[in-house]
Amino acid sequence: MSTIEPFIRWAGGKSWFVSFMHNLIKNININHYHEPFLGGAAVFFSLDLPKKSYLSDANEDLINTYLQIRDCPDAVITAFSQFTNSEKNYYEIRNLKFDNNIEQAAQFIFLNQTSYNGIYRVNKDGNYNVPYGFRKNWHYDCNRILEASKKLQNTNISCNDFESNKYKIKPNDLVFLDPPYTVSHNNNGFIEYNKKLFSLQDQYRLSKYIDYIEYLYYLLQTIKVNNNTHKRYWISEFATKKLFVHTIEQQKEIVNSIKSTFALLDKMSSSI
Ligand SMILES: C[S@@+](CC[C@H](N)C(=O)[O-])C[C@H]1O[C@@H](n2cnc3c(N)ncnc32)[C@H](O)[C@@H]1O
Repeated sequence: MSTIEPFIRWAGGKSWFVSFMHNLIKNININHYHEPFLGGAAVFFSLDLPKKSYLSDANEDLINTYLQIRDCPDAVITAFSQFTNSEKNYYEIRNLKFDNNIEQAAQFIFLNQTSYNGIYRVNKDGNYNVPYGFRKNWHYDCNRILEASKKLQNTNISCNDFESNKYKIKPNDLVFLDPPYTVSHNNNGFIEYNKKLFSLQDQYRLSKYIDYIEYLYYLLQTIKVNNNTHKRYWISEFATKKLFVHTIEQQKEIVNSIKSTFALLDKMSSSI
């Protein structure tokens, strides 16, 4: 596989999951690939996909960045190269309002790279409000943008709710689902991927979406923090499909232990 690193940092990024994923799908002929919770696209960037991929996310700024990188990577690099990293510059650049998509993409990458932790967070007025990161010896290799651009050439990219593209899913497509956390009381306390959090109602919709996916390989991924504090209810309680569940352990800084559980459609499990 010609794996490349994501060109941004993203909360909940799945770089650590890539080799596990390759093992799961090594015997499968994938037709089209769909990733409706794209984020940093660690899994997409790790795969060689001969046919068109459908990539989407609800985050407009993120999707604009993907579109500009796919279509005009050199212009994004030129705009990005005008930014220099210092605390003062960071806050000045954070306050700028560009009306040009390319400059917005460059600004997005710069803030993502130099911010405190790479989390995308906005305030109630929709303004990005992550503080400066003080990252020592920070350097961004712009070849990452060029490599990402090459990988993105045969893709359909859209800013959408995950349900919007479901009619594009066809038999033998692979759908990789990596939704945000939801906790049962709908109060997503510490991970904010977007201004709109993923609610329990969204999990119900996701469950229906999974039930809609017929005849297909799909893979969905869920995380349980400290065993049960944050639980994906739709896996155990809502989705009616027969799912095979694989669990792997992962150490993370934010909590002591994360158990990651992968549920696979039975058709896919039969090939691993
Ligand atoms: C766990 S992250 C995906 C991380 C990704 N797999 C990676 O490797 O970086 C979840 C993503 O879902 C997106 N999202 C949240 N609500 C959504 C919705 N209703 N429809 C589509 N995307 C949504 C967020 O913007 C976020 O990028």
